[in-house]
Amino acid sequence: MLQISNLKKHFGGIKAVNNVSFEIQENKITALIGPNGSGKTTVFNLISGILKADSGRIIFNKEEITNKKVNEISNLGVSRLFQQARLFNNLTVKENLLLAINNEDTKFWKNLINYKFTDEDYKKINKIAEVVGIESFMNKQAGDLSFGQKRLVEIARAIINPHKLLILDEPVAGVNPKLRKEILLLLKKLKEKGEAILLIEHDMNFTLNIADNVIVMDEGKVIAEGNPKQIKNNKNVLEAYLGE
Ligand SMILES: Nc1ncnc2c1ncn2[C@@H]1O[C@H](COP(=O)(O)OP(=O)(O)O)[C@@H](O)[C@H]1O
Ligand SMILES: [Mg+2]
Repeated sequence: MLQISNLKKHFGGIKAVNNVSFEIQENKITALIGPNGSGKTTVFNLISGILKADSGRIIFNKEEITNKKVNEISNLGVSRLFQQARLFNNLTVKENLLLAINNEDTKFWKNLINYKFTDEDYKKINKIAEVVGIESFMNKQAGDLSFGQKRLVEIARAIINPHKLLILDEPVAGVNPKLRKEILLLLKKLKEKGEAILLIEHDMNFTLNIADNVIVMDEGKVIAEGNPKQIKNNKNVLEAYLGE
């Protein structure tokens, strides 16, 4: 459903993404892993339109999305979880989710100022809360949540609107083991529901538990690709991680 070919992005002399090609398939979890600084977040930013590519192409469901605007790409069905948390700390979890409904530029401000939420909107957030397992803290202020709980709320926010592909940038970095497991189970559940997921992660072990296909980057290049078992035993991959 998503094809990346010969993608390049340089920052001055740094070849952050240097001729990267790979594919994401429907109903699968594709993991993009690699040591810190290998170019993973830059790929994330290129797919979501936050950065413009120097060259190469990104095709999403047969449509070229290379260098389209962030809004256009998200309206085509690409949902994102950023590496940095982006919740409104002074609002409750419920309010954060309500604001995420139909979160396009204009509607967002309408929501924030005087939009009357419908029964439908409330049903929608309750359903999502159940799927993600955050019902018990819906009325808490986002700022009072633990880091891992915030991540769960952000995942809820990322999946609340219709989408075809979910891209997560390090959803479990800094998350405690218990919530890590919860996020793992949640991603499995989403996959069973038919979601296509691109899971960007530094932690190799976490992704080896759930990914169908793993792509490994190092210094801006793809150095290995295969199923988790193949990746686990790949010498180049182990060396890249050791050399970190
Ligand atoms: N906006 C930027 N300006 C300059 N260098 C950048 C920028 N963003 C990323 N880089 C560099 O590009 C490389 C890849 O970074 P990044 O994609 O964030 O890696 P990862 O997500 O795998 O840790 C790193 O060397 C990083 O310092
Ligand atoms: Mg990163």
